[in-house]
Amino acid sequence: MTTFMHRHILSINQLSVQDIDFILDTADSLKEILERPIKKVPTLRGRTVVHLFFEPSTRTKLSFELAAKRLSADTVSVSASTSSVVKGETLIDTAKNIEAMKPDIVVMRHFCSGAPHLIASRIQASVINAGDGMNEHPTQALLDLMSVKEKKGGFKDLKVVIVGDIKHSRVAHSDILAFSKMGAKVTVCGPATLIPKDVESLGSKVELNIDKALDKADVIIALRIQKERQGKVLIPSIREYALRYGINERRVRLASKDVLIMHPGPINRGVEMTPDVADATNSIILEQVTNGVAIRMALLMLLLSAEQDQ
Ligand code: NCD
Repeated sequence: MTTFMHRHILSINQLSVQDIDFILDTADSLKEILERPIKKVPTLRGRTVVHLFFEPSTRTKLSFELAAKRLSADTVSVSASTSSVVKGETLIDTAKNIEAMKPDIVVMRHFCSGAPHLIASRIQASVINAGDGMNEHPTQALLDLMSVKEKKGGFKDLKVVIVGDIKHSRVAHSDILAFSKMGAKVTVCGPATLIPKDVESLGSKVELNIDKALDKADVIIALRIQKERQGKVLIPSIREYALRYGINERRVRLASKDVLIMHPGPINRGVEMTPDVADATNSIILEQVTNGVAIRMALLMLLLSAEQDQ
């Protein structure tokens, strides 16, 4: 009997604090498999996971594929450029055809907000949102939580500062929801044009002055300028952004002594942060990547065991 009763993972909002604790604990226990010489357990043997990626992705796609393979699931991947969507097929028709092949889980990244929700309402398989437009990236937020919990032990009253393009970032959206739900105090910072007006209603404070924002921060999460999602120019130049908001050594010293430096990737070195900050001993950027595989293993396993219990 599992205490995890979700059929899909679409948003951080759907998860309770208990659900999140359960996912983090499960991921923590699965992480050990990644250290073994033979990194494979039979848990999902005979299950099929389809990866449907309509947007470029390196880390997330690889991470999901590895997670499924580590659990012995059969995996298939479809990328936008090789799918029939480029031949004019609608998303729902693509979904129906995938459904007809009877997968157990569909992992989906799409440039439209809400696309995985639409698919989830139309097919039998479980759907995991691997990033939908500017909306959410729940598995990234879960791996960010796991990475912070490993180092800090918990979240209560931690000052988490998210710097960058908050407006167009699905990572920012999911991270704000996730960290504030777990008891951290979230501050967002960036050029005023890249801060959405309603961001405080999600549970974060806004501080436009970077030095003030970073004061005594326990965690700094830097985000990429989402150039591909900006309809018009919202910052004067990348050089100006790097000068005003880039995380450098001087700015890191404003934060607490044992601050954690994080970034979901891909990093633009010299823009969001200087190379010395990205590679510093308190940077956990690569640990985030490792934890990503463990989180996705946990979710695949929990979704399929919840399904068996229903
Ligand atoms: C992020 C994404 O795609 O939303 N990357 C990722 O999943 N690791 C962040 C980004 O593209 O900047």
